[in-house]
Amino acid sequence: MRYKSQSVAYWYFAVAMVLFGLQVVFGLLSAAKYLGPDPLLYILPFDVSKMIHTNLLVVWVLTGFMGATYWMIPDESRTEIYSVKLAYIQLALWVVMGVTAVIGYLFRYGTGNKLLEQPLPHKIVIVIVMLMFLYNVVMTIRQSGRFTTTEGVLLLGIAGAAVLYLPSLLHFDNYTVAIFYRWWTIHLWVEGVWEMIQGGFLAYLLIRLSGADREVMEKWLYVIVGLVFIAGILGTAHHYYWVGVPTYWLPIGGFFSALEPVALIAMAMYAYSAIRRSGMAHPNTLALHWTIGSAIYTLFGAGLLGLAHTWPGVNKWTHGTLITAMHGHAAFYGAYAMIVLAMISYALPAMSPSRREQGTSMGYWSFWLQLAGMFGMTLSFATAGIGQVYLERILGLGYLDAQLKIQVHFLMLTATATLFAIGVILFIIDFFRHAPRFEITTEMPDAVPVSPIRA
Ligand code: HEM
Ligand code: HEM
Ligand SMILES: [Fe+2]
Repeated sequence: MRYKSQSVAYWYFAVAMVLFGLQVVFGLLSAAKYLGPDPLLYILPFDVSKMIHTNLLVVWVLTGFMGATYWMIPDESRTEIYSVKLAYIQLALWVVMGVTAVIGYLFRYGTGNKLLEQPLPHKIVIVIVMLMFLYNVVMTIRQSGRFTTTEGVLLLGIAGAAVLYLPSLLHFDNYTVAIFYRWWTIHLWVEGVWEMIQGGFLAYLLIRLSGADREVMEKWLYVIVGLVFIAGILGTAHHYYWVGVPTYWLPIGGFFSALEPVALIAMAMYAYSAIRRSGMAHPNTLALHWTIGSAIYTLFGAGLLGLAHTWPGVNKWTHGTLITAMHGHAAFYGAYAMIVLAMISYALPAMSPSRREQGTSMGYWSFWLQLAGMFGMTLSFATAGIGQVYLERILGLGYLDAQLKIQVHFLMLTATATLFAIGVILFIIDFFRHAPRFEITTEMPDAVPVSPIRA
């Protein structure tokens, strides 16, 4: 650890770990309901367990983003965090918001707006937390006077995420209008500003882990972010096909969203080429696994599996089926869960010196079990989804009859999700089993610098 205040990140990561564990519990509960009968039907029905599952996901990933930012900004700007106290108040407010939101959901206190179910008071707290966070980060950079491109991309991503949350505060009685603006938050988050956050962390990790030339890495970061924006903004229209807006959105959505994977291909190539040229010089090979894994899994989950159902001609059959769940899991996991786990794996040895820099064997078991489990889950959702589309949408079988016929795929889902869950448990144990010790050292093992990579 180079700066004392970076220890703040540990507590954000610790909260993220607990929420990640809980998210998986509610995922398993939601999956079990597909196998029926459901003893919890009247206490915790599927809509509530799924809502808690997805909300915990968003909250733990955002907690991870915040922690990782508090870790990275001092390193990049070479200074202490502007206000450590503010960072802790922010975390406390955030946790209270998250916990009360989940308790509220158990009592059906929510807006019903998928992924944005938080009641208004909670939404206001979220905005306040985001403002505190932005203020602290901006002031840290200002006090140091050193502002890198990598930080700039990250900061734009965070500021964008805060601004794009604002439409979710509005209430519309007309469902078409409500859904139109809902995507300004959800789509422009995951296929726009959050990709900038991922890009910022990716560049930071690659520079540190591969020793690649910063100037070259940052130049390519601009290209990737530019590509994300060109395709991602108008790509929003791939959610406008069937919601009651004019038909000209169909070709716009199809064309621009189909371009989105280009940026993701560029991102995977960027990561791979940086590492290949570095000769794997950095000792923390576990963090390297998570970093490259994130870039490649994003290409698979978001790029390939997004493209698979983004054309209007395909989406008219697959919309809102388990095909969406297939893509949602692989994309979210690859892009955002894995990049947070990469940042944690990179930062952790510096915050608990008793830990091996290379990562522990438990850490590697966790990586491979999670990857294999999530791949199996994605395939299970995919096979279930294909069956559902044919039976329900093409043959016209009733919803429940179709569900009964595809139940076997949920056995597969439960089996592979169990593997995934074991991987998560191992990650959490590995996180907590070494007590943190915050010692300042100027000797962080960076990789040996190598010659600049070429395209
Ligand atoms: C043990 C692990 C997990 C299990 C068993 C599980 C299971 C489920 C189930 C059954 C649903 C509801 C699908 C439906 O609407 O029919 C769901 C939704 C969802 N899960 Fe998971 N999940 C797990 C882990 C994860 C992880 C790690 C992520 C992301 C990193 C994730 C992201 C999502 C998302 C984004 C949705 C909403 C998908 C949609 O809108 O259609 N889940 N999950
Ligand atoms: C990291 C990036 C991405 C993440 C985390 C992500 C996640 C998700 C999630 C959670 C949903 C379900 C949303 C809901 O119904 O509320 C969704 C839907 C969708 N995504 Fe993505 N996605 C990503 C990138 C992409 C890309 C690049 C494409 C296209 C090439 C794409 C195409 C789609 C489509 C067409 C739907 C709508 C499915 C439907 O009609 O039910 N996604 N995505
Ligand atoms: Fe989208």
